[in-house]
Amino acid sequence: NHIPVIAIDGPTASGKGTVAARVAEALGWSVLDSGALYRLSALAATRRGVADTDEQALADIARQLDVRFLSDKVLLDNDDVTEQLRQEHIGDMASRIAPLQPLRDALLERQRAFRQAPGLVCDGRDMGTVVFPDAPLKIFLIADVDARAQRRYNQLIEKGFSANLGDLSKDLQARDDRDQNRLVAPLKPADDAVVVDSSNLDVDQTVERILAHWRNRA
Ligand code: C5P
Repeated sequence: NHIPVIAIDGPTASGKGTVAARVAEALGWSVLDSGALYRLSALAATRRGVADTDEQALADIARQLDVRFLSDKVLLDNDDVTEQLRQEHIGDMASRIAPLQPLRDALLERQRAFRQAPGLVCDGRDMGTVVFPDAPLKIFLIADVDARAQRRYNQLIEKGFSANLGDLSKDLQARDDRDQNRLVAPLKPADDAVVVDSSNLDVDQTVERILAHWRNRA
């Protein structure tokens, strides 16, 4: 497949989603937020009363997801779920069902279908290692846990929610542990990934850093 892919993986709240969308916009490519598919599976399971341990039922749900990604919203069964998807308990359930192999298998082809000309920027945990192992550019985007907790805190406060920095930091570390230590598709940099540390970079600088790697790729 000659259609280029920029794969951006990294821990929770490293800014991957925002950065991926901006890189895609700069290049005129499409974008895939793969975490949204895990979150949508979690949300659909909750709605259908499927337990987070029922591997086969969860895989069926993932295979049959009726989802549409519009420019500014996500529809599940024609219902706007953009806000619900971002909720912490949905992200948490997503990370609890994400280790199940049948679910990951069910989402694999769906993710690969996003690879369309002129190119794709995608973000997640296993974009460079499993879903697009032939991506010509793989970025592993990290930021120290304090920087990530602070960003998440600012987002929540901005939206009018209350938040506690210490709790956020603990939640992030729990999610990181789970994503890194699972046996199936654990969060880790691909052998040929470039590590970008955004702890001291703003969004513009991070986007520029990634675009520079794309322009200067071997
Ligand atoms: O990135 P986001 O926080 O939306 O992802 C939610 C959860 O889905 C992650 O914590 C991770 O467990 C899972 N996930 C995954 N593989 C991906 C993307 C997300 O396992 N490619």
